[in-house]
Amino acid sequence: MSDKPHVADKDWWRSAVFYQIYPRSFLDTNDDGLGDLPGITRRIEYLRDLGVDALWISPFYPSPMKDAGYDISDYCNIDPAFGTLDDFRELVERAHSQGIRIIVDLVTNHTSDQHPWFTEARQSRDAGKHDWYIWHPGKKRRVLKFLKPRRPNNWISQFELRSAWWWNDKTKEYYLGTFTRHQPELNWRNDALKDSGFDVMRFWLDLGVDGFRIDVINWFIKDDRFRSNPFKLNVTPDLFQYHIYDRNRPETLELTKEFRTITSAAGGSERILVGEVFTKDPAIAAAYHGEDKLHMAFNFEFLYNPWKATEFYAAIKRWYDLLPDGAWPNFTLSNHDQRRHYSRYATGNETDARARVAAALLLTLRGTPFLYYGEEIGMSDLDVKRRDLVDPLGRKTWPLKSHGRDPERTPMQWTSEPNAGFTSKGVRPWLPINPNHTTKNATEQAADEGSLHSYYKKLIATRKEHASLRDGELVFVEHGENDVLSYVRTSGVESCAVWLNFGNSPRVVIPGEAGGHRRVVFGTHRLRDDALTDDRLLLEPYEVLIARVEPSD
Ligand code: GLC
Ligand code: CA
Repeated sequence: MSDKPHVADKDWWRSAVFYQIYPRSFLDTNDDGLGDLPGITRRIEYLRDLGVDALWISPFYPSPMKDAGYDISDYCNIDPAFGTLDDFRELVERAHSQGIRIIVDLVTNHTSDQHPWFTEARQSRDAGKHDWYIWHPGKKRRVLKFLKPRRPNNWISQFELRSAWWWNDKTKEYYLGTFTRHQPELNWRNDALKDSGFDVMRFWLDLGVDGFRIDVINWFIKDDRFRSNPFKLNVTPDLFQYHIYDRNRPETLELTKEFRTITSAAGGSERILVGEVFTKDPAIAAAYHGEDKLHMAFNFEFLYNPWKATEFYAAIKRWYDLLPDGAWPNFTLSNHDQRRHYSRYATGNETDARARVAAALLLTLRGTPFLYYGEEIGMSDLDVKRRDLVDPLGRKTWPLKSHGRDPERTPMQWTSEPNAGFTSKGVRPWLPINPNHTTKNATEQAADEGSLHSYYKKLIATRKEHASLRDGELVFVEHGENDVLSYVRTSGVESCAVWLNFGNSPRVVIPGEAGGHRRVVFGTHRLRDDALTDDRLLLEPYEVLIARVEPSD
């Protein structure tokens, strides 16, 4: 038997527990204050012990780092700050040898303005790669003709909070940069660009990656008539516009089919496509699923969900109802762009209890869970001081705390030592380390049976032991009224019932449909193997309870 990924396992991604690594913040092995690829390699055992099956690693490609690596200047290499291609090969080999798969970020909606493609493109309108980007000469002025032409439309830069059109004097045109001015948008209507984009995918597939997380997939194609977006009464994330012309074009769905052809041709174990469909509207994300499109598109509803069982129920139900037939759901509570859920749901001394309920929800729903590094130890957002801010959005919107993304990107807390074991003592880490690492760190929590880390580990192990929890059907029993959410997962003859009390009062529930004999397999307040025989169940505040339902005859 080999513990390598099972080559024949086409559906590995449906039952896998994913863990997102933000490489700059995971582990620094050469004391420059930045996490690196060898740092991830060194922690593969940690991840395996936690029960992680697959990693999504945020960008580590050469980059001027104007948007923390989401501005790439060379798609087929590693930024020296993160290591070398050999380090990457070693990481893939090490991970695969432990049964852990790896997906990497594909950030080809835009490049860095330092990418050689753009350097060439901006030289002249006749340059070979000029049409690889999105240009517009602007609108002629009737008065004040000596000024630059007017901008073509009202499309807006997400991070600079002003027009997304930037003037290029050499060609007397505007280029489009919907994030920062340093991230010019590629033109996915150009065939030569498309071929080069596909080559980037093949390059990483050849290196053995198990798939891609595609950055802002729903922004790849823009309206060919450059129409202005209509007005919408919403500040974040839509910035007062319905994004019907600069995003969410129907042609993008066609493009995903071409992506799928590339991954399908790669051979070996199934290589997957997970799309970041950047929108609050789950219907748009749902439409990206399909045998000929993406395997999954992120469902971001939980990132905005208040702590309310009925609202969780509504979001889950909405997502299940929206997904097309045969599509597989996914859920996530935190990522590198949003506040950590530990902080979002914090409430005095009940915060840890809530984190446990949230984790149980994420790991027992029907759908692939994506964890964000550090959530297993309850890492929280750090209030980063103005002088330490790195994120362009955070700097732009300072002092508004809710918009910057540095707070959720602080270094992983491995130990209680100075610099938290992330980097050596005396080194200045790229972002400050949360001072709470003295009491909250992976090493101490892994050794403590009662810690959040041990809880995640046991929960993941429980999920692995029960086919129903991994890929079973789901039927709701309690819909969040009285703070309780409960459901039964069933796969073949096996069934597990899950009860989650989101509130701080005890609640009585009638197991009803979760009938038969029940035996505890996991819980916060009961012992494993205890029988649940009563007709009524008393749930303690924030109780998590998972019971196997045994057939009564
Ligand atoms: C995605 C990434 C985000 C990045 C942006 C531009 O939303 O998750 O971190 O800044 O795309 O690439
Ligand atoms: Ca380093």
